[in-house]
Amino acid sequence: MTDLDSLAQAINGCVDCGLARSRTHAVPGEGSPQARLMFIGEGPGFNEDQQGRPFIGPAGQFLDELLASIGLARSEVFITNMVKCRPPNNRDPFPGEMEACSKYLDAQIEAIKPKVIVPLGRHALAKWFPGESIGKVRAKARRFGDITLFPLYHPAAALHNGALRSTILDDFAKLGDLLRAPAPVPEATSAEAAPAPAESGPQSEQLSMF
Ligand code: URA
Repeated sequence: MTDLDSLAQAINGCVDCGLARSRTHAVPGEGSPQARLMFIGEGPGFNEDQQGRPFIGPAGQFLDELLASIGLARSEVFITNMVKCRPPNNRDPFPGEMEACSKYLDAQIEAIKPKVIVPLGRHALAKWFPGESIGKVRAKARRFGDITLFPLYHPAAALHNGALRSTILDDFAKLGDLLRAPAPVPEATSAEAAPAPAESGPQSEQLSMF
């Protein structure tokens, strides 16, 4: 059993906040345990609660399309949410619910060790950058320790406001560029430590995840 499997078991049995009383299924998240790229949404909706899987309703179908637009499949990334149980009537999760659930997200990040995390929407953004506006910081990469954060609009935003669809597609194209970009070459501390230039081929490892 992997760390992620035991976390999923703990999440499925969790009663640490009131959302446990109204859920049909908890939704731990899914994808590759070795994913280099992790997406974090807000919380399960109706379809996700019914099936115990993240992003399988209309917002999820758009997310699949967005992933395909940069050549990725769900199985290559990891997708989860700030809260693992559906808030009734799809209301915003309460701060206390996100707080109670954050231990699971932190443990998932620790187990997967993604290189890039994409917070989808303002609730996930606030975990790292409280008080900042998603409209201002979206599609800009920022380092946070060993992890690159690349916040994006939540795909559901395009379902409410069709004009955002092409903005979100453009932002995803920027995510694709980031994933293909060469990682910064670490600074050599002395002439001796500096590696000889390669005869051919790329001189720097790609962040290149896939
Ligand atoms: N919206 C989310 O934030 N998460 C899901 O899993 C589905 C819709």
